Amino acid sequence: MNFHILTLFPDMVAEGLNTSIIGRAADKGLVTIDCINIRDYTLDKHKKVDDYPYGGGAGMVMQAQPVYDAWKSVVERIGYKPRTVYLTPQGGIFSQPQAKELALEKDLILLCGHYEGIDERVLEEIVTDYVSIGDYVLTGGELPAMVMVDAISRMVPGVLTNDESGSTESLEGNLLEYPQYSRPEEWNGKKVPAILLSGDHAKVDAWRREQSILRTAERRPDLLEKAQLTEKEQALLGKKLTEEKR
Ligand code: ADE
Repeated sequence: MNFHILTLFPDMVAEGLNTSIIGRAADKGLVTIDCINIRDYTLDKHKKVDDYPYGGGAGMVMQAQPVYDAWKSVVERIGYKPRTVYLTPQGGIFSQPQAKELALEKDLILLCGHYEGIDERVLEEIVTDYVSIGDYVLTGGELPAMVMVDAISRMVPGVLTNDESGSTESLEGNLLEYPQYSRPEEWNGKKVPAILLSGDHAKVDAWRREQSILRTAERRPDLLEKAQLTEKEQALLGKKLTEEKR
């Protein structure tokens, strides 16, 4: 999977993605992360990439020409027009299913804006997807692009060492992950739940599923509405919730 990130701050993005699991995936060639400096494509003799907004108002707008030419350089190099994501608080909210879906693409262009945004005409020309990482406003699209690269890359086969870990975790099946414990058996006066030491895998699995459901009910009731629970699980949940109310 090849990421092509169009940005005014290529070092920020490259630095942020060269460590840990994503850095290792890049070293192994499972993903490539190419950061393209939009400023390298300006035709302005002072290397300017922004200008005042027509109609007035605060801030500066990134001009169409350098953005378009930076995008076109990628398209010409790879020989086709890949999906092009513009990171903006005006997009749909990024989600785990979308990360999985985008991990199937061969190439993905991520366009990072700055200042008061980008000239609408070039967005109309090149953008296929408008994506936000949440309902808050950041100073630019670089952090959101890094968030997307991280979430998408870990869905690329081979990036996570344990093949399973991409699917048996938080948000899979719209449930949060169960609590995890490691050594020692007792820490700060708190014991690891005895069932996890029992060696009975069926019981451990059942306990974990129950914990996932209860945790989701408590922390993300909105997700639980979309989860598939058996009748038995629904009954258990109902019982626990009424117990809590008492
Ligand atoms: N740019 C600024 N804020 C953003 C957000 N929340 N998501 C994506 N891109 C952004």
